[in-house]
Parts: sequence; C-alpha cells; structure tokens
Amino acid sequence: MHNVTLIKGDGIGPSIIDEAVKVIDASGVKIHWEEAYAGMAAFEKFGTPLPDETMASFDKTRLAFKGPLTTVAGKGYRSINVALRQQYELYANVRPAKSWAGIKTRYEEVDIVIVRENTEGLYAGLEHYLTPKKDIAESLAVVTRSASQRVIDYAFKYAQNNARKKVTVCHKANILKYTQGLFLDVARETAARYPDIEFDEKIIDAACMHMVMNPQQFDVVVCTNMFGDILSDLAAGLVGGLGLIPGANIGDDAALFEAVHGSAPDIAGKNLANPIAVILAGVMMLNHIGETEAAERIKNAVEKVVNEGKYVTPDLNPHSKSGTIEMGNAIVEAMKLM
Ligand SMILES: NC(=O)c1ccc[n+]([C@@H]2O[C@H](COP(=O)([O-])OP(=O)(O)OC[C@H]3O[C@@H](n4cnc5c(N)ncnc54)[C@H](O)[C@@H]3O)[C@@H](O)[C@H]2O)c1
Repeated sequence: MHNVTLIKGDGIGPSIIDEAVKVIDASGVKIHWEEAYAGMAAFEKFGTPLPDETMASFDKTRLAFKGPLTTVAGKGYRSINVALRQQYELYANVRPAKSWAGIKTRYEEVDIVIVRENTEGLYAGLEHYLTPKKDIAESLAVVTRSASQRVIDYAFKYAQNNARKKVTVCHKANILKYTQGLFLDVARETAARYPDIEFDEKIIDAACMHMVMNPQQFDVVVCTNMFGDILSDLAAGLVGGLGLIPGANIGDDAALFEAVHGSAPDIAGKNLANPIAVILAGVMMLNHIGETEAAERIKNAVEKVVNEGKYVTPDLNPHSKSGTIEMGNAIVEAMKLM
C-alpha cells in the first residue's frame, strides 16, 4: 500500500483529479489517498492557502498528487505551488511533451522533455516595492551553484536513464552574466562529465524560435525556473495543448505530481477539462514508486483513447460529445482490454 497526499485543487482540479484517481485505482495499484487541501479551496475552508494539516500529511507521505491551484495575479497570497516546491526541495520539474499519432498538429515526432529548475531563480520570492508610492518594484533572481548542479545533473542522468541523446541548456547568459552565467557554467562543466550525451546551448529567445520552427532538434532541455515555466507551455502548444502535459516535481526525499496547466477557470464546472495531463502525471508517479506495469497499462489505455479521438474532450476533438467523465470512463474500459 502506498500513501499519497491528494490535493484536488481549484477550478477544474477536482473534476480531473477524480478521473485520475478512478483510473489509477482501476489499475489495481493499492494506494491510500490522504485528502488534503491547498490553494483557494483551502483558503475558503480554513482561512489559509496552505493549512498545517496539508504539510503534516506531505511530511509523512513524501508523495503528493495534486490538481492545479489558483493564484490570483498581482495580489493575494504567494503561489502555494512555488512554496511547496521550495519547502520540500523538489528541485527538478520534469515536463515531457510528445506528439500523439491521433492529434494533428503542425509537426510530427516532437519528443521534448523540459527539466526546469524548481526552487530558485526569479521565483525565489524576493520581490518588493522600493517606494511608498509603489511605483517602483524589484525582483531578485537567485541562482546558486548547488541548485544549478543538482538540476543539471538530474537532466543528464534523465537522458542516460531514458535512452535520450542530447541535453540543451537554454539561458540568457549574454545579458544576465552572473545568474544565467553561473547556470551556463555549471551546465558546461557538467556536460564534460557525460561524454555519451550530446550537449547544446541556446540563448532562450533564439531557443523559442528554434522550438517553434524545428522542434525535433530538442531532446532534453534544462533551464532556470521561469524560462522552463514558459518554454514548457510553448512545447505543450506544439503537441496538442496544455490538457496533455504532465509534470513531476522531484526532490531527493519527496515528490509531487501534477499537470503543467492551471485551474482553467474559463472551463471549470462544465465537464470540459481534459483529464489526460493529470492522468499522465499519475503514470509518472506510478513509475516513480516502482509500479511500472500499472503505469504502462494506463499509458497504453490513454494512448488508445486519445488516438481514437472518440471519447475525448472538445480541446482534442471539437465534434466530440464526450467530456471529462466520459473520457475517464473510456480509459478505464480500455484498460480492461489490456
Ligand atoms: N501548477 C498549478 O497549480 C498552476 C499552473 C499554472 C497556472 N496555475 C494557476 O491557474 C490559474 C489559471 O491560469 P491560466 O488561465 O493562465 O492557465 P491555465 O493553464 O489554467 O489555462 C490556460 C488555457 O488552457 C486551457 N486549459 C488548461 N488546462 C486544460 C485542460 N485540462 N483541458 C482543456 N483546456 C485546458 C484553459 O481553458 C485556458 O484556456 C491561475 O490562477 C494560475 O496561477 C496553476
């Protein structure tokens, strides 16, 4: 039995998490889901976006499965996602974007894994106004050798363990010579220790252009926090959208699995949200805890349902009459045949 802290989240979170839990439970893996609250749902229920009970559960399980959390732009509490990643040193945020046979996009055979530094950079939370009038604000980017080293090492090891050929570091060291320069230096030094993996470096703005024009040249990509956040949504757009991209937040002694996308308030409560991203986050979680057979079965069932395109949400097929629940049911049915 595995103990997992389950945070359903905000907006579309509860609906997609319910489908993911249904699918994971149907795989036969024994999981004790310990429900906890965070984000807006927790704020409304407990008056705080990150209750002590949630931290106590994660302290114990060291494994969390989470729906997206709403973070209001420009005001309100600090992002709970960022807080959890920092608190538990979930330093590598792994975001795979892969083409699907049944989804028509501009390119075929895109297969990119973005490894985003997850604990510092411009998301370190060092932000303030410089004047009482609040007309000047500043944010400090923090880049440390140790955090850069662990995430870059993670990217190279990921490449080795997953039969990948190349790691590209995307940076802005031409302008931000200290923070981005340090990250780039560590990437170059690390690359020398992995001679079996090809190494490439690209300035982030050019990397965006290259990824849009010739995405097949990218394999594993590693970058600092904000660049990885942005680049992974770009990669999502190349393979069919945010509804398909899972994310793993990996630390040395804790891990948290979620979709890359947010709480999508524009479609919440309408049975329209695509549950695939969070179901694939579940697949990443099962692989992480050694339940590889169940993970493979769910992945195959997801591929069958997505590629057939019949019981899918409208973001994948505008003519489909199916929604979140029907898609979850179709995946459970497909698993029975495998
Ligand atoms: N990890 C997280 O918890 C996380 C990540 C990103 C954003 N957020 C938060 O989510 C909220 C909304 O942010 P946003 O609107 O910029 O981004 P979003 O990812 O929620 O939505 C962007 C667009 O993608 C669509 N979309 C997202 N997920 C989808 C799905 N599963 N199926 C179909 N369509 C989907 C939405 O409808 C929307 O049009 C904000 O409060 C933001 O802070 C949370």
